[in-house]
Amino acid sequence: MQLERLLQKHGFGTRKGCRALIRHGRVAVNEVVCDDPFAEVATTGLVFSVDGVAWPYAEFASLVLHKPAGYECSRKPQHHPSVLELLPLPLRERGVQPIGRLDEDTTGLLLITDDGQLNHVLSSAKRKVPKVYLATTRHPVDQAQVDQLLAGVQLNDEPEPIAAAAATIASEHLLRLTVTEGKYHQVKRMVAAAGNRVEALHREAVGEFVLPPDLKPGEWRWLAAVDLQKLGYSS
Ligand code: URA
Repeated sequence: MQLERLLQKHGFGTRKGCRALIRHGRVAVNEVVCDDPFAEVATTGLVFSVDGVAWPYAEFASLVLHKPAGYECSRKPQHHPSVLELLPLPLRERGVQPIGRLDEDTTGLLLITDDGQLNHVLSSAKRKVPKVYLATTRHPVDQAQVDQLLAGVQLNDEPEPIAAAAATIASEHLLRLTVTEGKYHQVKRMVAAAGNRVEALHREAVGEFVLPPDLKPGEWRWLAAVDLQKLGYSS
């Protein structure tokens, strides 16, 4: 692929802007500066750098972010900054977006991508992708609440009761809940319908993919092929 087009594809601005970056010697290909915008570069295993920052060649940008509280998942947030502000500019420029939404005060695993197919597969209601949440509750969690959640609770505006795919008491005020839908405020509403209240919510896993324990709030990393497999997706 032509170097100029490669940079543009990775979010480094217009074709003209990318050409200027290259001509100014700010771009290296596999650690060697290349100032020819029209150089053909092999993309397999390619690492390029711009101003000394290394980037892998990525057909799609698919990431996991440890979402901190205080960020909205929208591209056009209303009251808090967007989670996308936690990403470097070139990734934002690529047009990545969160797969599904977490509330502003929810923390944990958020997947972000510019791969429309991945987004579709994980968001599709038909696929019933399990999402595991840890809810801190105002009142002690008891077996009666868990049984209700497993049997199904009626939420306003829903035609039928919705059941958790799994629910266990993790400790006195901690409930681990798996849901396969992605409805608005779903976990908070389900827990409220079962007679308790969510004080804090954290997403631990989507499909078989668990939030990497070394990823601190606000940090992100690229998804590897093995992660995509755990999400039931291979491109
Ligand atoms: N359910 C909720 O209530 N909030 C979230 O952020 C995610 C699931």
